[in-house]
Amino acid sequence: MVEPLNALRAEQVAVETRALNVFYGDTQALKNVSLPVARHRVTALIGPSGCGKSTFLRCLNRLNDRIPGFRMEGKVRVLEMDPYSKHTDLIELRRRVGMVFQKPTPLPMSIYDNVAIGARSHYGLRGKLLDEVVEQALQRAALWDEVKDILKRPALQLSGGQQQRLCIARMLAVDPEVILMDEPCSALDPVSTFRIEELMIDLAKDHTVIVVTHNMQQAARVSHYTAFFMYGELVEYDASKQLFLSPQQKATEDYISGRFG
Ligand SMILES: Nc1ncnc2c1ncn2[C@@H]1O[C@H](COP(=O)(O)OP(=O)(O)OP(=O)(O)O)[C@@H](O)[C@H]1O
Ligand SMILES: [Mg+2]
Repeated sequence: MVEPLNALRAEQVAVETRALNVFYGDTQALKNVSLPVARHRVTALIGPSGCGKSTFLRCLNRLNDRIPGFRMEGKVRVLEMDPYSKHTDLIELRRRVGMVFQKPTPLPMSIYDNVAIGARSHYGLRGKLLDEVVEQALQRAALWDEVKDILKRPALQLSGGQQQRLCIARMLAVDPEVILMDEPCSALDPVSTFRIEELMIDLAKDHTVIVVTHNMQQAARVSHYTAFFMYGELVEYDASKQLFLSPQQKATEDYISGRFG
C-alpha cells in the first residue's frame, strides 16, 4: 500500500511543481499544473499525445530553456533545488536528476564511452573502477549480454532498442537521485520491456522515478502513483490502484479504458 497523496509529509516529496504554466510561443503546453511527486516511488505520467508529458519532465531538469518561444510561470522544486534559480549549479542538477529521452540519444562514440562519460566527468572514475560501473549499469539496463564483446564499437551501430537501453545505462552510471524516463520501453521487445519494468521497481527502493508511458498496463504494474494529463491540464492524480480501479473523472475513465487517446 502507498500513502494517499494528501498524507505525504513535506520530506516525502522529492519533486514539486506549483501552478506551473508553460508556453511555446502561442501554444500553452502546461496549464496550472501543481504536482507533488513522492520520494522513492514510481510516478507514471499518462495522457494523449501532445498533452504535455515530455514538457513536464523537461521542466524538471531545465531542458526547455533553449526551445525558441519557451516561457514558464510558477514554481518548480527538485530535491531542494530550484532548477530556474541563477544560483543553481546546472552540472549538479543534471548529476542528481537523470533523464532518458523519448528518442534514444547515443553519442557518436563507443558503447563503453557512452556509458562511462558521466561517471568519468562527475566522479573522476578511471580504470577498473570505471569498468565495473560500466558493466553494472549495462547489466541493470539489460544490455550487457548483447554488448560485452563489442564495447569498443560505435554506439550508433546498435539497434534502436539497444540504443534506448544504452541510454538507460548511461543514466544509471551517474546514479542520479531523481530519474526521469520518457517512454523508456517504446522501442523495446517484451523481454527487455519486462526487465526495464523490474528495474524501475527496483530503483524506486532508493530513487525517485518519474516515467512517461502510453502503456496503461505498464503504468498499473510499475507505478505507485499516476498522473493523467489532457490538453496540458492535470486532470487526475492519485495512487495508481485508485486511479486505474476507480477513476474519479469521466475523462480518465475514457482514456484508461481506451475510448480515446
Ligand atoms: N519544441 C517545441 N516547440 C514548440 N511546441 C512544442 C515543442 N515541444 C512540444 N511542443 C508543443 O507542446 C505541447 C506538448 O508537447 P509534449 O511534447 O510535451 O507532449 P507529450 O505529452 O509528451 O506528447 P507525446 O505523447 O506525443 O510524446 C504540444 O502541443 C506540442 O506541439
Ligand atoms: Mg512526449
